[in-house]
Amino acid sequence: MFIYNYIEIENHKNISEDIKKYIIEETDVMLLKWPWKFVNVERLLESVPQLEKIFREFDLKIITAAAIYRPPYSQGGIHIDTSEFYRVLWPVINCETSTTKFFKYEPEKFREGSGRDGDKNLTALSDVNLEFLDEFNLSKPVIFNPKIPHGVYCDPNLNESRISLTLGFNKNPRYVLTEYCC
Ligand SMILES: [Fe+2]
Repeated sequence: MFIYNYIEIENHKNISEDIKKYIIEETDVMLLKWPWKFVNVERLLESVPQLEKIFREFDLKIITAAAIYRPPYSQGGIHIDTSEFYRVLWPVINCETSTTKFFKYEPEKFREGSGRDGDKNLTALSDVNLEFLDEFNLSKPVIFNPKIPHGVYCDPNLNESRISLTLGFNKNPRYVLTEYCC
């Protein structure tokens, strides 16, 4: 069962800076503070053309992009996304010391939910104990399986919000990215 892999991209920190600039200057992500906020893919790729180039080399087209906002000290929010394919997570602000944890799926412990931006998911009932599977710190871009329950655990020592960018593609990116994964 594929959970996640880091993607080795040399200048990923520079790209993160460009994404950050786009999010701050051209979107309402920082204002709304929604957990999931779609951003305009066309404008994103105009602002950060390297993103399109990186994935075009794998014959992948980015079709959705959303900013994931977590307030300081936020922990968990375990859910499954309805994305058909594996997705990429790109660190943007304060992600290096945040942890994304994965858990075993048990259908009776989840209910259907939807976010304020119309994003659909299955959310874990608040008082459930789920079996821990794996985790990563979002210190560099990651490809991951959004169908495995996951939640974000912000750095408890950091009094700042955390933002990542999630990218969805026109087909499953798992195999074409293998050579970039460690
Ligand atoms: Fe998710």
